[in-house]
Amino acid sequence: MPRAAKFLIVLLSGMALLTLIGYAVIAQTTREWFDADLRLRSRLAVASAGQSLAANWQLDAAKLTADLANITRDERIMGAAACTTDGQMLASTEAYPRDFSCPSVLKHVRDAAVDATTPAWSMTTELPSGRVHVSAIKLAAGSGDMLGVVILVHDLSYVSRREATTRELLLGAFFVLSLGASLVTLLAARMAWTSWMRELRRALAGNPTSEFRPLLRDVRALMERMSREREQDAGTVAWSPARLRSTLMQHLQGERIVILANREPYIHERTADGVRVLHPASGLVSALEPVMRACSGVWVAHGSGSADREMVDDKGHVHVPPGEESYVVRRVWLNEQEENGYYYGFSNEGLWPLCHVAHTRPLFRADDYAQYVRVNRKFADAVCEEVDSDDPIILVQDYHFALAPKMIRERLPRATIITFWHIPWPNAERIGICPWREELIAGLLGSSVVGFHTQQHCNNFIDSVDAFMESRIDRETNAVVQGARKTLVRPYPISIEWPVHWLQEVPTVAEARMSVRRELEVSPDTLLGIGVDRLDYTKGIEERLAAVNELLLRYPDLRGRFTFIQLAAPSRTKIARYHELNERVHALAAEINERWAAPGYRPIVLLHSHHEPAAVFRYYRAADVCYVSSLHDGMNLVAKEFVAARDDERGVLVLSQFTGAARDLTEALIVNPYDIRQASDALATALRMPADEQAERMRAMRSFVGEFNVYRWAGRMLVDAAVLRRKERVSGRLGAVLSGGEAA
Ligand code: F6P
Repeated sequence: MPRAAKFLIVLLSGMALLTLIGYAVIAQTTREWFDADLRLRSRLAVASAGQSLAANWQLDAAKLTADLANITRDERIMGAAACTTDGQMLASTEAYPRDFSCPSVLKHVRDAAVDATTPAWSMTTELPSGRVHVSAIKLAAGSGDMLGVVILVHDLSYVSRREATTRELLLGAFFVLSLGASLVTLLAARMAWTSWMRELRRALAGNPTSEFRPLLRDVRALMERMSREREQDAGTVAWSPARLRSTLMQHLQGERIVILANREPYIHERTADGVRVLHPASGLVSALEPVMRACSGVWVAHGSGSADREMVDDKGHVHVPPGEESYVVRRVWLNEQEENGYYYGFSNEGLWPLCHVAHTRPLFRADDYAQYVRVNRKFADAVCEEVDSDDPIILVQDYHFALAPKMIRERLPRATIITFWHIPWPNAERIGICPWREELIAGLLGSSVVGFHTQQHCNNFIDSVDAFMESRIDRETNAVVQGARKTLVRPYPISIEWPVHWLQEVPTVAEARMSVRRELEVSPDTLLGIGVDRLDYTKGIEERLAAVNELLLRYPDLRGRFTFIQLAAPSRTKIARYHELNERVHALAAEINERWAAPGYRPIVLLHSHHEPAAVFRYYRAADVCYVSSLHDGMNLVAKEFVAARDDERGVLVLSQFTGAARDLTEALIVNPYDIRQASDALATALRMPADEQAERMRAMRSFVGEFNVYRWAGRMLVDAAVLRRKERVSGRLGAVLSGGEAA
């Protein structure tokens, strides 16, 4: 029961009790007043008629009766009687009640002295006709001898009437006072509630008044302690699929997660030998696939393989990984026009060059954007079909789906949507050149959390929101507030699985070194460099080959002894710029090979084809140096994969300073890929690095990647999502209370 109601009940009971006591006191007092008044009146009445009464006493009954009648002219005296001392009634008025005979009254009076001020005896009693007051006044002769008594009977019905009026007045007063007290209580309670809610809102907004400060201090201390405990726990127990599973079980009670990502983790391709399963070259897939294997759920993706349609059920579902089947891929089909406009057009000719500082001009075509909107809607609808509650956890991936979070939010207002942007987010000035910048940002702000690899990208995003949107930026919590909705902006540096399961299929370092050199037909002591990328202009492949050329130029002892293998996965081949890049890279490789050619020696081995992950890991193991030369990269997981492959603690990583990975792998040789001379020096340093220094650097990087692996990345994001959802559920309840309170 609300406290105000309890208070009111106590108040009203108290008032009722006081009214009762008040009434009893007043009734008693008025009765005493009336009694005294009647005794006085009786005495005066008898005194004023005293002489005449004495003169006619026992002499003239008729006159005595007339004297008594005179006394009863006072309308409140209903009757009078005259009694001798031996109990004989000499006379009485007509209305004198027979209940009071002379003997019955005289027995009370007999011993009383004659008194001029008070009656000898009086009493109040109930008769069938009503309440009466009886008084007996002694009458004495002029000589002082006792003649007898005069009995006066007063009608008290007027007293009862007055008492009833008093009672009614008191009840009325009680009612009015109760009403007043109730109104005052309600008003006070309402004012207290409103002010409490105002304080609560201020407190929640981080601006508490002194009254709330101690409470908030305690809550904060508790939260800090919990977060410290969580951190300590995170430091002692390594993140693994099992830990991710149990964390999700604890926070999400085993609910399924829905991922939206354009690229599917398994592509079914029709070949001459039947259907083949391909694992695409994609950082996003290498990161998310192990997470889905660990926690299950649905991955909604574009069905892009030539045999994809043959493998699904009528809902577009296929269970993967083949043979293990721990989660579901929901394939969404796109026609050619949609794929051209959404994927090749707006995503990869517009957003991709916009977000990467790689000096390729973005192309923004209205038709492409229209397809982008249409396809985002199509995928958002598919996601909404796959969820199993009205407040699901949905992970939206990458720049292909900037609009989907808002579209999903419109259909599932209570969803917890985490959007992870796998590529860099440029500064506000650069974002400003996109004709649909507001729509893109608004779409992303449909998310509960927007994640980037680095704090720098988070800052750029917040600056872009500041520049182009109507919103409030909470810089303390890194959040964007629009009306009642809040979107957190958080860095989550992505990583890879640890240990990498593909390594089970990969030969040991010694075997890989030998077999790869044998295939290349080079001597067993040839120094090998490796580069692994999709053939993309952001990867700095031309700069990388130029650095190899510079290395051979400036370090002649390496000519004939050093070969660089470049694995280049064909990518976005319909786009002219990718064609041009392909041609340039092939030409440059041929030029360098020609320049440094010697019998049986090729400095560059360009393998322009798709390589399955196990094949890629064999090359990592065979190499002495891995060069990641991205001109701009959100994270770059090739760098982390190379580290994971080197369980022999050998091999050196040369890493572009423009990758997110350069912030994590600080023991790599960090270079500016545009600085060809510096990069060639770094390659030379790597190839000459003593074994113990290699081991020291590799150990440090392996320990970092092992600890900050993809299970931790996913665990942090999903736990944040679960915590956020819990908060939203609570604040939803609080919101209901608040609006209920406001309505009251
Ligand atoms: O790493 C960036 C990224 O765009 C991923 O998000 C994507 O999976 C990968 O490159 C490959 O690109 P695509 O899906 O166009 O082949």
